Parts: sequence; C-alpha cells; structure tokens
Amino acid sequence: MKVIQTVKELQTLLRQYRQAEKNIGLVPTMGALHEGHATLVKRCVSENDICVVSVFVNPTQFNNSDDLKLYPRTPEKDYDLLESIGTHIAFTPTVEEIYPEPDTRIFDFGGLDKVMEGTFRPGHFNGVAQVVSKLFDFVKPDKAYFGEKDFQQLSIIKKMVKQMKLPVEIVAVPTVRESSGLAMSSRNQRLSEQQREYAAGIHRIMRESTLMMAEKTPDELTRLVTEWVNNVPELRVEYFRIVDGDSLQQISSWYDSGNIVGAIAVYCGEVRLIDNIRYR
Ligand code: PAF
Repeated sequence: MKVIQTVKELQTLLRQYRQAEKNIGLVPTMGALHEGHATLVKRCVSENDICVVSVFVNPTQFNNSDDLKLYPRTPEKDYDLLESIGTHIAFTPTVEEIYPEPDTRIFDFGGLDKVMEGTFRPGHFNGVAQVVSKLFDFVKPDKAYFGEKDFQQLSIIKKMVKQMKLPVEIVAVPTVRESSGLAMSSRNQRLSEQQREYAAGIHRIMRESTLMMAEKTPDELTRLVTEWVNNVPELRVEYFRIVDGDSLQQISSWYDSGNIVGAIAVYCGEVRLIDNIRYR
C-alpha cells in the first residue's frame, strides 16, 4: 500500500494506472476506521483494479469546533487496517493540501440539505460536497463507495453527481452493525461500555416500530419512537423523521411513498449518533 499526502503525487500515480486501463475505486473516509469502513474498502478492492481510500477529517463539514477537535483520530491503526484488507493507495492529505485557499462554493441540493441533518448541522452538507467533489476531481474514480448509515449524505452525493454530470458510479453499502444492533460509527469510540448498551436501543426501537405500521400512522410512530428512545438512560433524541427516501420530505400516510425511511439523530451522553431504518 502506498501512503500519499499530496494531490500531485496522487494524480501522477493514478494517471499511470488509467493509461494501463485500470479501474479505479474510491472510498472517502475521515479515518478512525472500523468494521463498517472495512466493508466499504473490501467491496471497493473486489470491484476495482485499484482501490484508493482517502483519510481526511474535513474541517468544512463541522459546524461545531469542539466536534471537530474531539473527532477520533487513529492514523497508525487505520493504515494497518487498510493495508491488511488490500487497499492500494491511502491518500492522507493535510488541510492545506485540500484547501490551499478557502472553498467558497455554495451547493444547492434542491432542499435535500435543508431537512434533518441540514437543520441541525447547518453548512454540514455544503462542506461534505466541497470535499467529496474535490476528491472526485483528484481521483476521477469509476466507482465511489458510501455507507447507508449516512443516508441523507448518500442522497446528497447522488444528487451532486447528477447535477454536475460526474462520470462516477455511487455504490451504496448497507450499514454494518455491532452484534447489539448499534450501527458502527467512528463516534462509538467515545462511548463507555454502558453507553454502548444504551445506544443499542436506538436500532432495537426503530426495528420494533417497523412492525407497527399496520396500527399506527407515520406521525404516531414518530412520536412513539421519539418517546421510547428518550426513555432509555443517556439517550436524547435530536430528531426522528419518517420520510420519503427520495425527496426526504416527511410523509403523513404509509400510502404516500413506496420508499420510506426513518432517520434519527440521538445524543448518547455527549456523543451524537445517527442511524436509519427502512419501513418500505
Ligand atoms: O462520511 C464521511 O466520513 C464523510 O462525510 C466523508 C464522505 C468522508 C466526507 O468527508
């Protein structure tokens, strides 16, 4: 595995691979890698000749400086994991390398970025789009891999690719869960053992709610899930929404859409977790 820090070196190497007609896959990450990332990378390795993994904690997507400061960073462990699962290139740029000057681009995702995470983390998706569009430009991947845990991010990246007519296929990879059901996340590293047990309630409660669609309206289930999660010690729901999986707008009847997703953000102590579940 080659560890590369500069865009120039990355582009020089990738040009050679492209000339040799190699397919290139990209897995963008912010490091602190876990089994969920490993699943994305393994998929990328198996579907492409060359797998590039970027490890970059992108400052422009953090609307809270403490969150950025506290974001876990485990570079040595990350490189060992990436090497062990067959990554060809780990791209680990500095902030100056990605942003030699401030990125002032403002993206418009036609409302997809105004709900849920967009409401509670203003500017977050603009920052994600800034860095992902730059990575796509540097790497020019044939395929790029993203986890379904970040369901709204995935919708926005698909939208950006469509808007900018980028020649990249976005591959959505199902959420990887701990045996308790807790969605794997770099942020889980900040949870105590006890908090992890509480946080497992998020998925359990959402899953139970999918069995109640016949008796409850989306509004009623929204209230119930919120109440049940809030009743678990240490958990505090920031939002839970049942939405159409394409428009991300809330539905009022189960007949409103054939693609229905419940998306949640919950604080467990000080740690903010997100997850989602498919209703239909
Ligand atoms: O999902 C993430 O880890 C980040 O938002 C991403 C896509 C790597 C962009 O910084």
